[in-house]
Order: sequence, then structure tokens, then C-alpha cells
Amino acid sequence: MKLFVDTASVAEIREAHSWGVIDGVTTNPSLVAKEGVDFKTRILEICDIVDGPISAETVQLRAEEMVPEAREIAAWHPNVHVKIPMTREGMKALKVLSAEGIKTNVTLVFSLNQALLAAKNGATFVSVFLGRVDDIGGDGMAVVRQCVDVFENYGFDSQVLAASIRHPLHVVQAAEAGAHISTVPYKVIKQMFEHPLTDIGLERFLADWEKAMAELKVAKA
Ligand code: G3P
Repeated sequence: MKLFVDTASVAEIREAHSWGVIDGVTTNPSLVAKEGVDFKTRILEICDIVDGPISAETVQLRAEEMVPEAREIAAWHPNVHVKIPMTREGMKALKVLSAEGIKTNVTLVFSLNQALLAAKNGATFVSVFLGRVDDIGGDGMAVVRQCVDVFENYGFDSQVLAASIRHPLHVVQAAEAGAHISTVPYKVIKQMFEHPLTDIGLERFLADWEKAMAELKVAKA
């Protein structure tokens, strides 16, 4: 499973990238707005840090306007994947963009039916917002599992991207479900490294080492 970081913060992306585990980056209008920076400048900065798929979202709602906007965003950098919302207008735009070879990420997907429509129109990635399904009492991971199975059954090329990940268990479950990609907030990626037994084990190893070295020093003296 590929691991993307879900943030528009350059500091977070740099840090997560330095750990060597990041395959790509996803942003959305809320994440970019939080940064208070120019959209294109920020996407290009991100492309300079991570050599992998970088998602940047359209904000137009009608296909007639979404298509030129998506073409412009896609032209910024070869790694840019344009995020298209799961709406009828979005799917109309997606059909055109797929035919032109533009890489896409269909966003705001909450059901298998929506995912199927995106896959039929050639989406590169289909982002299932599983955390938001959980928020309203649904089972977001079940949607991820359904999408993985059905895409496989019918040979769709679209990849299932588990999004709206809220905690480390979501990452575990997305991997078990066979999601091709998980996009994970910086905070949750940091949590993925953590285990109390690792800390205790390391502490013990170092204490034993220091004790043995001190004894050796005394023996030699
Ligand atoms: O980037 C899309 C998605 O991951 C947003 O997550 O936490 O706002 O539901 P969240």
C-alpha cells in the first residue's frame, strides 16, 4: 500500500518525506486555505519535495469550467493529479480529462455506487472519505473493501485511495482491506512509528550496553 501525506504544510511534508516513507501528497481546498498561500506556488513547492503523485483540487462546479481549470492545474507539473468532485458535472469533466490522459483523483466518494461511476469514467484514484462515513455512524472501511473487491472483479484500472483517515487503526484496516493507497495526516503518520515496547526495549538495550561497557572499563583498569 502506498502512503501519501494528507497536508498542504511544507514543513510537515518535508519532515515526513525525510523519513523515506512518503509516496505522494494529497491536498484539498480546506488544507490549502489553512496555509494562507498561493495555490499554484504551494503545489509546485510540494512537487519539488516529493517525487510522486501530488493531488490538487478544482474549485469550479460546472464541467465547462472544471475542464479548463483541471487542464491548467495538470499543466503545472507532470506529477499533479487533479482532484475532481464526485458530482454529475464532475463525472462529465472526468470523462473528457481521462480521454486527454490527465491524471485524476475523484474526491468526496462515500459509496460503492459513486466509486463505480468514477472508475467507469477512468479516474486514476478514487478517494473514499472513510472517516467522514464513520462520523455519521456508517462503516467507512466497508466501502473501501467493497471498492477494492469490485474494481478487482471488473478489472478497473482505478486505484482505491483510503482518505479521511483519522487514527493509526484506520491505516491498519485500509491495508488489510487492500486499499492501493492511504492518505494519512502528518500526526497519524508520526503515531504509526510509535510502540511502547520499542521505547522500553531501546531503553533496556542502551542501559545493558552502558553497564557492560562500564564493567569492562573497571576490569581493564
Ligand atoms: O484530503 C481529503 C481527506 O483526507 C480529508 O479528511 O479528515 O477532512 O475528513 P477529513
